[in-house]
Amino acid sequence: MSLSRTGDLVAAAREAGEGVGAFNVITVEHAEGIVAGAELAGAPGILQISQNAVRHHLGRVEPLAAACALIAETARVPIALHLDHVDDLDLLRRAADAGFSSVMYDASHLEYADNLTATRSAADWAHEHGLWLEAELGEVGGKDGVHSPTARTDPGEAAAYVADTGVDALAVAVGSSHAMTTKSASLDIGLVEKLRAAVPVPLVLHGSSGVLEEDLRRAVAAGLTKINVGTQLNVAFTAAVRRTLTDETLTDPRKYLRPARDAVTETIAQIIRTLTTR
Ligand code: G3H
Ligand code: ZN
Repeated sequence: MSLSRTGDLVAAAREAGEGVGAFNVITVEHAEGIVAGAELAGAPGILQISQNAVRHHLGRVEPLAAACALIAETARVPIALHLDHVDDLDLLRRAADAGFSSVMYDASHLEYADNLTATRSAADWAHEHGLWLEAELGEVGGKDGVHSPTARTDPGEAAAYVADTGVDALAVAVGSSHAMTTKSASLDIGLVEKLRAAVPVPLVLHGSSGVLEEDLRRAVAAGLTKINVGTQLNVAFTAAVRRTLTDETLTDPRKYLRPARDAVTETIAQIIRTLTTR
């Protein structure tokens, strides 16, 4: 199957009243595990590489993106490739040639007016280069270890922001926070409904690892469509590595990366079943 486009997968999920998972890739095993999990669930998925993951790969986005694109092309379900949490304009400009169909440009840490100006210019550039652009309003915290579950996106401001920037999707702050290792986030479902009514483009949930399955289901029903998950995969991946490495004679990385990849697959299948009716 050829590489799908994020915009198409998100539009189809919204039309069907489902969510589409966007999953953070750090290693090739993550990408393989994510695609295998999507195949198991029989539903599409989005492989996303964050700017932080690019930094881990020595600042080079192309090698991991190429691997993801090739893994997606041989998948039995539609898979798209997304570049996540970018504030480096140089990286944004490399996205179109690296196989991505979409980028999340993250100016959420800026004041409203500065966020709007920077995002409008990123969206203009993205559209000229055939990219679907996601932006964020109402900073979802946690990436720096500082959790801010009280941050909220105002529906009126969100509607004006989308109209003024021309973005294709909006990440909103509704109670989640990045990098949570326990399912203790409390989503404001009433706010999701208000945002869905006020904002014409698909809504994105970041920091979904901290959200209980039943709350994810309610959030999708209320109007969130692209559901970003990273930490939950790494919790499963690393736990599997740790379990395997109790054998201190083990040296072959395949011996601990294989169970780690399998753990990602199981986790992904479970998440996708939660987000869809399959
Ligand atoms: O953009 C990526 C996500 O927001 C992942 O967040 O690692 O808390 O699941 P998470
Ligand atoms: Zn995020």
